[in-house]
Amino acid sequence: MLFAVAALVGGLASFAAANVPLPSYHYGAPIHVECMNRSSDTGEHIELANHQLQWIPFPTCNETGEPLQFHYGVEGELNCTIPLISDPFFHLLEFYIHNDAPLSCRLPARPAPHVEVIGEKLPDQEYIPLIFALAGTLQASHMHISTHMNVLLHSMPKHHMHNHDSGVLDSAVSYSTSPMSHMAGSFTKKLIIGDPLPFSFSVRWFPTPMLPKTEGRVEWQGLGGHVYASTVFYSLVSFIAGLLVAGMYTLGVVLPRRLKGRSMGGATPLGYGVGNGWGYSKRKD
Ligand SMILES: *[C@@H]1O[C@H](CO)[C@@H](O)[C@H](O)[C@H]1NC(C)=O
Ligand SMILES: *[C@@H]1O[C@H](CO)[C@@H](O)[C@H](O)[C@H]1NC(C)=O
Ligand SMILES: *[C@@H]1O[C@H](CO)[C@@H](O)[C@H](O)[C@H]1NC(C)=O
Repeated sequence: MLFAVAALVGGLASFAAANVPLPSYHYGAPIHVECMNRSSDTGEHIELANHQLQWIPFPTCNETGEPLQFHYGVEGELNCTIPLISDPFFHLLEFYIHNDAPLSCRLPARPAPHVEVIGEKLPDQEYIPLIFALAGTLQASHMHISTHMNVLLHSMPKHHMHNHDSGVLDSAVSYSTSPMSHMAGSFTKKLIIGDPLPFSFSVRWFPTPMLPKTEGRVEWQGLGGHVYASTVFYSLVSFIAGLLVAGMYTLGVVLPRRLKGRSMGGATPLGYGVGNGWGYSKRKD
Protein backbone atom coordinates (compact mmCIF):
# COMPACT_ATOMS: atom_id res chain seq x y z
CA MET A 1 0.00 0.00 0.00
CA LEU A 2 2.72 2.38 1.03
CA PHE A 3 4.57 1.36 -2.10
CA ALA A 4 1.52 2.00 -4.24
CA VAL A 5 1.24 5.51 -2.86
CA ALA A 6 4.96 6.09 -3.33
CA ALA A 7 4.73 4.84 -6.90
CA LEU A 8 1.78 7.11 -7.58
CA VAL A 9 3.56 10.15 -6.16
CA GLY A 10 6.68 9.22 -8.10
CA GLY A 11 4.61 8.86 -11.24
CA LEU A 12 3.00 12.26 -10.82
CA ALA A 13 6.30 13.89 -10.04
CA SER A 14 7.78 12.59 -13.25
CA PHE A 15 5.29 14.33 -15.51
CA ALA A 16 7.16 16.80 -17.65
CA ALA A 17 5.95 20.24 -18.56
CA ALA A 18 4.43 18.80 -21.72
CA ASN A 19 2.48 16.29 -19.62
CA VAL A 20 4.43 13.42 -21.09
CA PRO A 21 5.28 11.00 -18.31
CA LEU A 22 9.01 10.38 -18.21
CA PRO A 23 9.81 6.73 -17.57
CA SER A 24 12.20 5.37 -14.95
CA TYR A 25 14.28 2.23 -15.13
CA HIS A 26 12.86 -0.75 -13.35
CA TYR A 27 15.25 -2.79 -11.25
CA GLY A 28 17.22 -5.02 -13.62
CA ALA A 29 16.34 -3.08 -16.78
CA PRO A 30 19.14 -3.13 -19.37
CA ILE A 31 21.17 0.05 -19.85
CA HIS A 32 23.11 0.13 -23.09
CA VAL A 33 26.52 1.76 -23.27
CA GLU A 34 27.20 3.98 -26.29
CA CYS A 35 30.58 5.48 -27.05
CA MET A 36 31.82 8.30 -29.16
CA ASN A 37 33.05 7.13 -32.56
CA ARG A 38 36.57 8.39 -33.10
CA SER A 39 39.01 8.46 -35.96
CA SER A 40 41.68 5.83 -35.40
CA ASP A 41 44.16 8.13 -37.16
CA THR A 42 43.74 11.24 -35.03
CA GLY A 43 41.58 10.19 -32.10
CA GLU A 44 39.20 13.01 -32.97
CA HIS A 45 35.46 12.45 -32.69
CA ILE A 46 33.52 11.71 -35.86
CA GLU A 47 30.83 14.21 -36.77
CA LEU A 48 27.72 13.36 -38.71
CA ALA A 49 26.54 15.54 -41.58
CA ASN A 50 24.46 17.65 -39.17
CA HIS A 51 27.52 18.23 -36.94
CA GLN A 52 26.18 15.88 -34.30
CA LEU A 53 28.61 13.50 -32.64
CA GLN A 54 28.33 9.92 -33.74
CA TRP A 55 27.57 7.55 -30.87
CA ILE A 56 28.04 3.85 -31.51
CA PRO A 57 27.46 0.82 -29.27
CA PHE A 58 30.32 -0.33 -27.04
CA PRO A 59 32.12 -3.22 -28.79
CA THR A 60 30.34 -6.56 -28.71
CA CYS A 61 31.28 -8.85 -25.83
CA ASN A 62 32.07 -12.42 -26.73
CA GLU A 63 30.34 -13.61 -23.54
CA THR A 64 26.91 -12.27 -24.50
CA GLY A 65 27.18 -11.63 -28.23
CA GLU A 66 25.91 -8.11 -27.45
CA PRO A 67 27.52 -4.76 -26.74
CA LEU A 68 28.28 -4.07 -23.09
CA GLN A 69 25.24 -3.30 -20.98
CA PHE A 70 24.53 -2.82 -17.31
CA HIS A 71 21.32 -3.61 -15.46
CA TYR A 72 19.63 -1.01 -13.31
CA GLY A 73 20.48 -1.53 -9.65
CA VAL A 74 22.21 -4.87 -10.26
CA GLU A 75 25.68 -5.17 -8.75
CA GLY A 76 28.24 -7.78 -9.50
CA GLU A 77 31.06 -8.86 -11.73
CA LEU A 78 30.75 -8.73 -15.49
CA ASN A 79 33.13 -10.06 -18.11
CA CYS A 80 33.30 -8.54 -21.54
CA THR A 81 35.90 -9.93 -23.91
CA ILE A 82 36.36 -8.06 -27.16
CA PRO A 83 37.20 -11.08 -29.31
CA LEU A 84 39.65 -9.50 -31.72
CA ILE A 85 41.48 -6.20 -31.50
CA SER A 86 41.65 -4.81 -35.02
CA ASP A 87 44.36 -2.49 -36.18
CA PRO A 88 42.17 0.65 -35.94
CA PHE A 89 40.89 -0.36 -32.50
CA PHE A 90 44.46 -0.93 -31.31
CA HIS A 91 45.31 2.64 -32.32
CA LEU A 92 42.25 3.93 -30.52
CA LEU A 93 43.39 2.09 -27.39
CA GLU A 94 46.67 3.98 -27.66
CA PHE A 95 44.76 7.27 -27.61
CA TYR A 96 42.65 6.13 -24.68
CA ILE A 97 45.63 5.01 -22.63
CA HIS A 98 47.51 8.24 -23.23
CA ASN A 99 44.32 10.17 -22.58
CA ASP A 100 44.83 12.06 -25.81
CA ALA A 101 41.26 11.07 -26.30
CA PRO A 102 39.30 9.39 -23.52
CA LEU A 103 37.04 6.40 -24.04
CA SER A 104 33.99 8.65 -23.77
CA CYS A 105 30.71 6.84 -23.50
CA ARG A 106 27.23 7.67 -22.30
CA LEU A 107 24.19 6.03 -20.76
CA PRO A 108 20.55 7.02 -21.25
CA ALA A 109 19.46 8.64 -17.97
CA ARG A 110 16.02 7.09 -18.45
CA PRO A 111 14.62 4.41 -20.71
CA ALA A 112 13.15 5.74 -23.96
CA PRO A 113 9.55 6.87 -23.54
CA HIS A 114 7.19 4.64 -25.48
CA VAL A 115 3.90 6.44 -24.96
CA GLU A 116 3.30 8.86 -27.77
CA VAL A 117 0.97 11.75 -27.23
CA ILE A 118 -0.54 12.86 -30.49
CA GLY A 119 0.72 16.27 -31.49
CA GLU A 120 3.32 16.37 -28.72
CA LYS A 121 7.00 16.05 -29.38
CA LEU A 122 8.63 13.42 -27.25
CA PRO A 123 11.12 14.92 -24.83
CA ASP A 124 14.73 14.57 -25.92
CA GLN A 125 16.51 11.56 -24.53
CA GLU A 126 18.92 12.69 -21.83
CA TYR A 127 22.25 11.00 -21.26
CA ILE A 128 24.85 10.94 -18.54
CA PRO A 129 28.53 10.70 -19.47
CA LEU A 130 30.50 7.57 -18.59
CA ILE A 131 34.23 7.81 -19.17
CA PHE A 132 36.23 4.63 -18.98
CA ALA A 133 39.55 5.80 -17.58
CA LEU A 134 41.60 3.05 -19.10
CA ALA A 135 45.13 2.62 -17.73
CA GLY A 136 48.09 0.88 -19.28
CA THR A 137 51.52 1.34 -20.78
CA LEU A 138 52.53 1.50 -24.40
CA GLN A 139 55.52 -0.28 -25.83
CA ALA A 140 56.91 -0.27 -29.35
CA SER A 141 55.11 -3.38 -30.54
CA HIS A 142 52.51 -4.04 -27.86
CA MET A 143 50.76 -2.54 -24.88
CA HIS A 144 49.82 -3.57 -21.36
CA ILE A 145 46.26 -2.80 -20.35
CA SER A 146 44.79 -2.92 -16.85
CA THR A 147 41.66 -4.78 -17.81
CA HIS A 148 39.84 -4.82 -14.48
CA MET A 149 37.62 -1.79 -14.16
CA ASN A 150 35.39 -0.52 -11.39
CA VAL A 151 32.08 0.96 -12.50
CA LEU A 152 30.25 3.27 -10.10
CA LEU A 153 26.70 4.20 -10.97
CA HIS A 154 24.62 6.74 -9.05
CA SER A 155 20.87 7.15 -9.14
CA MET A 156 18.95 10.33 -8.55
CA PRO A 157 17.76 10.43 -4.95
CA LYS A 158 14.17 9.51 -4.20
CA HIS A 159 12.06 10.30 -1.18
CA HIS A 160 11.25 6.68 -0.59
CA MET A 161 13.93 4.21 -1.36
CA HIS A 162 13.57 0.51 -1.13
CA ASN A 163 15.33 -2.61 -2.18
CA HIS A 164 15.23 -3.36 -5.91
CA ASP A 165 14.02 0.15 -6.54
CA SER A 166 13.26 1.77 -9.87
CA GLY A 167 14.84 5.09 -10.77
CA VAL A 168 16.80 7.44 -12.98
CA LEU A 169 20.55 7.66 -13.52
CA ASP A 170 22.40 10.58 -11.97
CA SER A 171 26.07 10.01 -12.78
CA ALA A 172 28.67 7.36 -13.45
CA VAL A 173 32.39 6.70 -13.73
CA SER A 174 34.66 3.78 -14.54
CA TYR A 175 38.39 3.32 -14.04
CA SER A 176 41.07 0.66 -14.34
CA THR A 177 42.25 -0.61 -10.97
CA SER A 178 45.87 -1.18 -9.96
CA PRO A 179 47.50 0.44 -12.97
CA MET A 180 50.91 0.26 -11.25
CA SER A 181 50.93 -3.52 -11.16
CA HIS A 182 50.81 -3.68 -14.93
CA MET A 183 53.70 -6.06 -15.32
CA ALA A 184 52.71 -8.58 -12.68
CA GLY A 185 49.00 -8.17 -12.02
CA SER A 186 46.60 -10.87 -13.00
CA PHE A 187 44.29 -8.25 -14.50
CA THR A 188 46.89 -7.03 -16.93
CA LYS A 189 46.77 -8.01 -20.54
CA LYS A 190 49.74 -7.82 -22.85
CA LEU A 191 48.06 -6.91 -26.08
CA ILE A 192 49.06 -7.09 -29.73
CA ILE A 193 46.88 -6.54 -32.78
CA GLY A 194 44.62 -9.55 -33.33
CA ASP A 195 44.44 -10.52 -29.64
CA PRO A 196 41.25 -10.75 -27.63
CA LEU A 197 40.88 -8.10 -24.92
CA PRO A 198 39.26 -9.51 -21.76
CA PHE A 199 37.67 -6.73 -19.70
CA SER A 200 36.16 -7.44 -16.30
CA PHE A 201 33.91 -4.92 -14.57
CA SER A 202 32.98 -4.66 -10.91
CA VAL A 203 29.68 -2.81 -10.93
CA ARG A 204 28.36 -1.01 -7.86
CA TRP A 205 25.28 1.18 -7.45
CA PHE A 206 24.63 4.09 -5.15
CA PRO A 207 21.05 5.16 -4.46
CA THR A 208 21.99 8.86 -4.43
CA PRO A 209 24.75 11.01 -5.95
CA MET A 210 26.58 10.81 -2.64
CA LEU A 211 29.19 8.35 -1.47
CA PRO A 212 28.27 6.03 1.38
CA LYS A 213 27.42 7.58 4.72
CA THR A 214 25.48 6.53 7.76
CA GLU A 215 23.12 9.05 9.29
CA GLY A 216 25.08 11.88 7.83
CA ARG A 217 28.48 10.62 8.87
CA VAL A 218 31.06 9.73 6.29
CA GLU A 219 31.77 6.03 6.48
CA TRP A 220 35.23 6.12 4.96
CA GLN A 221 37.90 5.72 7.56
CA GLY A 222 40.30 7.56 5.29
CA LEU A 223 44.00 7.14 5.79
CA GLY A 224 43.99 8.96 9.11
CA GLY A 225 41.07 7.08 10.60
CA HIS A 226 39.01 10.21 11.19
CA VAL A 227 37.14 12.68 9.09
CA TYR A 228 37.81 15.82 11.05
CA ALA A 229 35.76 18.23 9.01
CA SER A 230 32.68 16.11 9.34
CA THR A 231 33.28 15.58 13.07
CA VAL A 232 33.36 19.33 13.62
CA PHE A 233 30.35 19.79 11.41
CA TYR A 234 28.38 17.18 13.29
CA SER A 235 29.21 18.61 16.68
CA LEU A 236 27.75 21.85 15.40
CA VAL A 237 24.71 20.15 13.95
CA SER A 238 24.11 18.27 17.20
CA PHE A 239 24.26 21.53 19.09
CA ILE A 240 21.71 23.19 16.82
CA ALA A 241 19.60 20.09 16.83
CA GLY A 242 19.55 20.25 20.61
CA LEU A 243 17.93 23.65 20.35
CA LEU A 244 15.35 22.40 17.91
CA VAL A 245 14.37 19.10 19.46
CA ALA A 246 10.69 19.29 18.69
CA GLY A 247 11.08 20.61 15.18
CA MET A 248 13.80 18.18 14.39
CA TYR A 249 11.86 15.17 15.57
CA THR A 250 10.92 14.07 12.09
CA LEU A 251 14.29 14.66 10.52
CA GLY A 252 16.37 13.61 13.45
CA VAL A 253 14.53 10.54 14.68
CA VAL A 254 12.02 9.27 12.20
CA LEU A 255 14.12 9.63 9.08
CA PRO A 256 17.33 8.06 10.41
CA ARG A 257 15.27 5.23 11.84
CA ARG A 258 13.67 4.63 8.47
CA LEU A 259 17.02 4.69 6.77
CA LYS A 260 18.49 2.40 9.38
CA GLY A 261 15.75 -0.09 8.63
CA ARG A 262 17.25 -0.29 5.20
CA SER A 263 20.75 -0.71 6.50
CA MET A 264 22.21 1.90 4.26
CA GLY A 265 24.76 2.14 6.91
CA GLY A 266 27.64 -0.13 6.89
CA ALA A 267 26.34 0.01 3.47
CA THR A 268 29.37 0.54 1.56
CA PRO A 269 27.83 -0.35 -1.71
CA LEU A 270 31.46 -0.55 -2.63
CA GLY A 271 31.85 -3.57 -0.50
CA TYR A 272 29.84 -6.47 0.49
CA GLY A 273 26.43 -6.09 -0.98
CA VAL A 274 27.08 -8.10 -4.10
CA GLY A 275 23.97 -9.73 -5.41
CA ASN A 276 21.09 -7.91 -3.82
CA GLY A 277 21.54 -4.60 -5.55
CA TRP A 278 22.16 -1.23 -3.99
CA GLY A 279 24.43 -2.66 -1.36
CA TYR A 280 21.48 -2.83 1.00
CA SER A 281 21.11 -5.72 3.29
CA LYS A 282 17.62 -7.14 3.67
CA ARG A 283 14.88 -4.83 4.89
CA LYS A 284 13.92 -5.38 8.45
CA ASP A 285 10.46 -3.80 8.37
C1 LIG B 1 33.04 5.29 -37.11
O1 LIG B 1 33.68 6.23 -37.96
C2 LIG B 1 34.47 5.62 -38.98
C3 LIG B 1 35.20 6.73 -39.69
O2 LIG B 1 34.30 7.68 -40.20
C4 LIG B 1 33.58 4.83 -39.90
O3 LIG B 1 34.36 4.19 -40.89
C5 LIG B 1 32.87 3.74 -39.07
O4 LIG B 1 31.97 3.03 -39.87
C6 LIG B 1 32.13 4.39 -37.92
N1 LIG B 1 31.62 3.33 -37.06
C7 LIG B 1 30.33 3.01 -37.01
C8 LIG B 1 29.98 1.87 -36.12
O5 LIG B 1 29.48 3.60 -37.64
C1 LIG C 1 35.01 -13.80 -15.59
O1 LIG C 1 36.21 -14.34 -16.09
C2 LIG C 1 37.03 -14.88 -15.08
C3 LIG C 1 38.35 -15.28 -15.72
O2 LIG C 1 38.14 -15.93 -16.91
C4 LIG C 1 36.32 -16.07 -14.43
O3 LIG C 1 37.10 -16.63 -13.42
C5 LIG C 1 35.01 -15.55 -13.82
O4 LIG C 1 34.27 -16.62 -13.28
C6 LIG C 1 34.17 -14.83 -14.86
N1 LIG C 1 33.07 -14.19 -14.18
C7 LIG C 1 31.83 -14.19 -14.66
C8 LIG C 1 30.82 -13.47 -13.86
O5 LIG C 1 31.54 -14.76 -15.71
C1 LIG D 1 34.15 -16.49 -27.99
O1 LIG D 1 33.09 -17.37 -27.74
C2 LIG D 1 33.15 -18.55 -28.50
C3 LIG D 1 31.88 -19.33 -28.25
O2 LIG D 1 31.34 -19.08 -26.99
C4 LIG D 1 34.40 -19.34 -28.10
O3 LIG D 1 34.49 -20.52 -28.86
C5 LIG D 1 35.61 -18.47 -28.36
O4 LIG D 1 36.80 -19.12 -27.91
C6 LIG D 1 35.49 -17.15 -27.64
N1 LIG D 1 36.58 -16.27 -28.05
C7 LIG D 1 37.27 -15.55 -27.19
C8 LIG D 1 38.35 -14.71 -27.76
O5 LIG D 1 37.03 -15.54 -25.99
